[in-house]
Amino acid sequence: MKIDVLLGLQWGDEGKGKIVDVLTPKYDIIARFQGGPNAGHTLEFNNIKHVLHTIPSGIFHEKKINIIGNGVVIDPVILKDEIEKAEKVGADLKTNLLISRKAELIMPTHRLLDKAYEESKKDQKIGSTLKGIGPAYTDKTARIALKTGDIFQNDFIEKYNATKAHHEKIFKGYGFTETNPEYEKEWFAALEYLKAFKFIDSEIFINEALKNDLKTLAEGAQGTMLDIDFGSYPFVTSSNTTTAGVCTGLGVSPHKVGDVYGICKAYCTRVGSGPFPTELFDETGELLRKNGNEYGATTGRPRRCGWLDMVALRYSIMLNGVTKLIITKADVLSGFDTIKVAVGYKINGEIIDYVPYDLNTDIEIIYEELPGWKTDLTNCKKQKNLPAELINYLKYIHIKTGVKVKYVSVGPDRTQTIKLKQ
Ligand code: GDP
Ligand code: IMO
Ligand code: MG
Repeated sequence: MKIDVLLGLQWGDEGKGKIVDVLTPKYDIIARFQGGPNAGHTLEFNNIKHVLHTIPSGIFHEKKINIIGNGVVIDPVILKDEIEKAEKVGADLKTNLLISRKAELIMPTHRLLDKAYEESKKDQKIGSTLKGIGPAYTDKTARIALKTGDIFQNDFIEKYNATKAHHEKIFKGYGFTETNPEYEKEWFAALEYLKAFKFIDSEIFINEALKNDLKTLAEGAQGTMLDIDFGSYPFVTSSNTTTAGVCTGLGVSPHKVGDVYGICKAYCTRVGSGPFPTELFDETGELLRKNGNEYGATTGRPRRCGWLDMVALRYSIMLNGVTKLIITKADVLSGFDTIKVAVGYKINGEIIDYVPYDLNTDIEIIYEELPGWKTDLTNCKKQKNLPAELINYLKYIHIKTGVKVKYVSVGPDRTQTIKLKQ
């Protein structure tokens, strides 16, 4: 059996959490392979909204295994809080949640470092979620990180203190004096709490599962345009958000990757700083934000909004080897007379249809316009109820990308998802 992948094709918040929850009945295992509590994955059912940061989005289904893979960075305080909230609504995390021993711990000082680095950047801030993601991955590469498996070792405190002392030297250099002793206390208490959960060698577990024909879905966090290698660097996150990240973040070989579900909003959003070619600064952008309730699931920040960017989307599809597209938030586009799609960038008089090295340059966008629709989609249950203009929009996306649209999402609830017959 191969491992399927589901990931975001834009700047994050494409609706990954919702769609993973919808697809979970088809799978035995859901596994997160990168990122950490910078992610905010929302899912809704029975009129209740749940936001997950570290736990995979299959957790609300009975008898499904949810793995936090080795490529994930974990803040124990945030994970404990998530577990407690999920347990309150009946999820069985003692049985269904498995944590990789090789996943890295985000230390209290990583959060402070995130802040120190951001403050020092003045007007070049990345707009980080300040959850300590970048500094944690930096320590992984520097080979001084703490893994969850270390918490069961006798020398854990020594290792912790050594890395903390290293961070303190950096603070000194930055003249940064803030400390978080209360958070540190909570952090150690949360680690004790987590010891009651199951820690595994997830790379072995997953490969065995695939050998035994268990269906597995890898759940991405952030989006392709935030990838550390291919995103709008330096305004990116610190992990590989692309399909390649599945191989290192779960320990599966490339030839074991099966279908790649690429999730894309019917328009575009971005939260934090950095280039966003199709960003709208007018009332249309405001309308998208209002109708789409575009406020961050992790930080509550208003998301920047704009039209669908086909140039960036095709780049993302290429990088990930997307085999199936899922378009979310189609309902948010209801009411527009016409819908615009960016099909080219004009830079210094030259029109290009690929993502240039420097996205932070003066770009004039070449748009194509398609007819909009007025129908409220939120009660549509079947393809035949969808307006012809939306079907036309989905066909247009298929033609421009070469990838079929398999599902369209018309609202935040589980039930507001339509499987398309081609
Ligand atoms: P993720 O990070 O990719 O999981 O996405 P987020 O949860 O951060 O943001 C997506 C937001 O859109 C959440 O509030 C979802 O509840 C909501 N959502 C998901 N799909 C749809 C949809 O089709 N229509 C509408 N209106 N909202 C949706
Ligand atoms: P999900 O999984 C949207 C953005 C931040 C910032 C940049 C770096 O919910 O789609 P970091 O905290 O990683 O140092 O922030 O990346 N960012 C996200 N934007 N959705 C996310 O996750 C994000 N995770 C990080 O806003 O611009
Ligand atoms: Mg999100």
